[in-house]
Amino acid sequence: MTTRVAVLVSGGGTNLQALIDAQHSGSADERYRIVGVISNRPNAGGLKRAADAGIAAITIDHKAFGERADFDAALRVELDKLDPDLVVLAGFMRILTPEFVRHFHGRMLNIHPSLLPKYPGLNTHQRALEAGDSEAGATVHFVTEELDGGPAAVQARVPILAGDTPESLAARVLEQEHVIFPQALRWFAAGRLQLRGSEAFFDDQPLPPTGAQIS
Ligand code: GRF
Repeated sequence: MTTRVAVLVSGGGTNLQALIDAQHSGSADERYRIVGVISNRPNAGGLKRAADAGIAAITIDHKAFGERADFDAALRVELDKLDPDLVVLAGFMRILTPEFVRHFHGRMLNIHPSLLPKYPGLNTHQRALEAGDSEAGATVHFVTEELDGGPAAVQARVPILAGDTPESLAARVLEQEHVIFPQALRWFAAGRLQLRGSEAFFDDQPLPPTGAQIS
């Protein structure tokens, strides 16, 4: 049975595009289908990408809600209609309430542009450059109540080069995001990637804190 995926976006949606482009690739048991895209911003480029691909594109403007919990409740209503097996955060720039996160425990993945556990939060590339790091990267991880803190599923590394700016580094990392995110979804669809309790497993083996490495 094809894994049903709902994608949450806030921005341009290049990761969403990579997930759309890859949804019919892979072996039969790895296939997933994006059943809907939800944005908290009405003008997010990701909405157009979804519509262009014939995927339901839904806006829930967070500005219309006073409390975070009210927005999350509205999000739950729309997600329930889509009936997803997996919820994917692809550049979704909202912090979700613990209750919401618990509901989707083991069924929600996020992509973050750093080698977690390094640099959770914002401005990851600038922070890596300021720290004098020699490499950077991206991590797909299961979402838990701790911001950018859930168990890592897949990670890709890139070198930091002399003269790099936050923008040049972001572009190099983004290319890898577009590789590891579809990969994580294929593995999840095939049942190879799982969250058991608070640990990520791949092919029934616990993953290291950095997740599976792709380089
Ligand atoms: C990506 O770098 C993602 O890791 C971060 O926000 C960016 C979203 O880019 N959380 P896009 O909207 O997928 O193009």
